[in-house]
Amino acid sequence: MIRIVFVCLGNICRSPMAEAIMKKMVSDMGISKQFLIDSKATSTEELGNPIYPLAKKKLEEKGIYNFSHQAQVFQNEDYDFYDYVIVMEDSNIRNLMYIIGNDSLLKIHKLIPDYNIDDPWYTRDFENTYNDICYGCSQLLEKIIKQENIKREGE
Ligand code: 4NP
Repeated sequence: MIRIVFVCLGNICRSPMAEAIMKKMVSDMGISKQFLIDSKATSTEELGNPIYPLAKKKLEEKGIYNFSHQAQVFQNEDYDFYDYVIVMEDSNIRNLMYIIGNDSLLKIHKLIPDYNIDDPWYTRDFENTYNDICYGCSQLLEKIIKQENIKREGE
């Protein structure tokens, strides 16, 4: 079982969108059982809150329904539990360091290397965020499938 956690600041916009999109991708490929996919925040600001309504609306527009979510904060022990800690932007890495100290096992990666996914909480551009996250998730999933030698349905 490959354990992935997506991390952003509030865990109500970008990381839950990434969680929902990645769950849909592995489900469409018939490989859901080989993955555990979660999302968490670096801040306590939105703790316990559902996905932001405009993020939910964007997912629904794209055919992703029934995604239930309550914002959670990344804890020190999460670093041991997950195999891949996937962040949206550089500031998420800095904030994670306050929680975990350092990335000794090199588990932390940006969803799109060398690119920061804008926070739609501020930009209000949920379409752009959705597209960035889809691109990042499909690239990441291909990398993980190769790296972990995951077999797709029928292979
Ligand atoms: P997210 O967006 O990190 O993509 O979930 C944010 C949502 C809420 C806040 C910040 C960012 N906030 O400060 O409440």
